[in-house]
Amino acid sequence: MAKTLIKNGLVVNATGTGAADVLIDGETIAAVLAPGSMLLGFDIEGNVDRVIDAAGKYVIPGGVDAHTHMEMPFGGTFASDTFETGTRAAAWGGTTSIVDFVVQYPDQNILDQYHAWHEKAAGNCAIDYGFHQILSDVQDSSLTAMDELIEEGVTSFKLFMAYKGVFLSDDGQILRAFQKGSSNGALMMMHAENGAMIDVLVKQALEAGNTTPFFHGTSRPWQAEEEATHRAIMIADLTGAPLYVVHVSAKQAVDQIAAARDRGLNVFGETCPQYLYLSLEDQLGAWSQQWGDFEGAKWVCSTPLRSKHEGHQDHMWQSLRTNDIQMVSTDHCPFCMKDQKDMGIGDFSKIPNGIGSVENRMDLMYQGVVSGRISLSRWVEITSTTPARMFGMYGRKGVIQPGADGDIVVYDPNGHTSIGLGKAHHMNMDYSAWEGFEIDGHVDTVLSRGRVIVDETGYVGTKGDGAYIKRGLSQYLT
Ligand code: URP
Ligand code: ZN
Ligand code: ZN
Ligand code: ZN
Repeated sequence: MAKTLIKNGLVVNATGTGAADVLIDGETIAAVLAPGSMLLGFDIEGNVDRVIDAAGKYVIPGGVDAHTHMEMPFGGTFASDTFETGTRAAAWGGTTSIVDFVVQYPDQNILDQYHAWHEKAAGNCAIDYGFHQILSDVQDSSLTAMDELIEEGVTSFKLFMAYKGVFLSDDGQILRAFQKGSSNGALMMMHAENGAMIDVLVKQALEAGNTTPFFHGTSRPWQAEEEATHRAIMIADLTGAPLYVVHVSAKQAVDQIAAARDRGLNVFGETCPQYLYLSLEDQLGAWSQQWGDFEGAKWVCSTPLRSKHEGHQDHMWQSLRTNDIQMVSTDHCPFCMKDQKDMGIGDFSKIPNGIGSVENRMDLMYQGVVSGRISLSRWVEITSTTPARMFGMYGRKGVIQPGADGDIVVYDPNGHTSIGLGKAHHMNMDYSAWEGFEIDGHVDTVLSRGRVIVDETGYVGTKGDGAYIKRGLSQYLT
């Protein structure tokens, strides 16, 4: 097995930073050494197959994106990245593990779906991947199957309080699933929006002739998110199940999570780059020559982008500092404008919901370090270490230490990344949600289990390098 030495870099873990050399033997980190790579007089550098000089650069654990939807069937179409294209784009951006969602629609069998997702991913991924399971209707057989899935390494289950007739579970169904999670140790994930309120507001907006993407945002108000977040917390409290609220965008929902945590509950929240940087007015309300007032469809996702006049984005950054929100995933769910998003011209409710950012998350969050909003270690913590702990992968993933997988990114703080189509864009999308964003930093080298998969020439890995991650129970519970 090949040995690699990454020398002269600043190793950044969630717990701190230090100048160190990292020796990788085969797929695993063998040693983190004082700089100089001599061990008891033994010349390490002269005895490895590859030396990577990381002088002036950060050496960080590979990114863990715990919320992706590769080729997800949704809104009458499929998310445009396959496991092959989406994981390759992730690698370009310094992410070395994803956790994707196995979809169950009503009446489908969750174990059949789980096996189908393995077939989609196996042999196609550039990086390692795990699965969460979506529960739509909560069948008796689904509750039994949850135990089996935990044995398979699927230890987290997502339910929805929105999308009636598609994904929505009623409160009784949610209660039953949470009772199961309380007894078997699963982490219960929630899409927290009040679907009944939203369905009325959408209908009223369309009847009033308000059909453009902007009204996707106004028909999914923060009250619908706050209320559902509160309800999910109450069901978690009642049942004792740990709760992880996905894609939090409203400051009021953050405050519900913070209050629950202050009461000592195992309640956690994830946000996404779009809720830190983008807004209802600037993106959902955007106009362009090509798409006119339909331009905003590029950013139609749920929960929606929030108003820049209400302080959600600043509050979200602050919650990342204080750990009221624990981590950042992408909710990568890309759709092209042509032939996908454009199904919603004249009716925003027909726009497939989702944004693609799997390639951009590490860079976008590093920009938070540059602007002084988060520290270097916190950057690693919210993008790698906490996702690994939250979803039962820590030790192998999320840390640079002996015994961990050789999933490493050499990040150049003096480099530069221009995000956008035709620049650093490898997702299967005909636009970038981040067009024009300039990043003061650059992903230079990416190793996945000891293999260099991105170097100065670009992507050098092979389809199928990525393996299934059999996850354990959450390591984040208190
Ligand atoms: O708009 C979104 N978020 N699409 C993906 C599905 C989901 O709810 O996470
Ligand atoms: Zn969701
Ligand atoms: Zn999602
Ligand atoms: Zn560079």
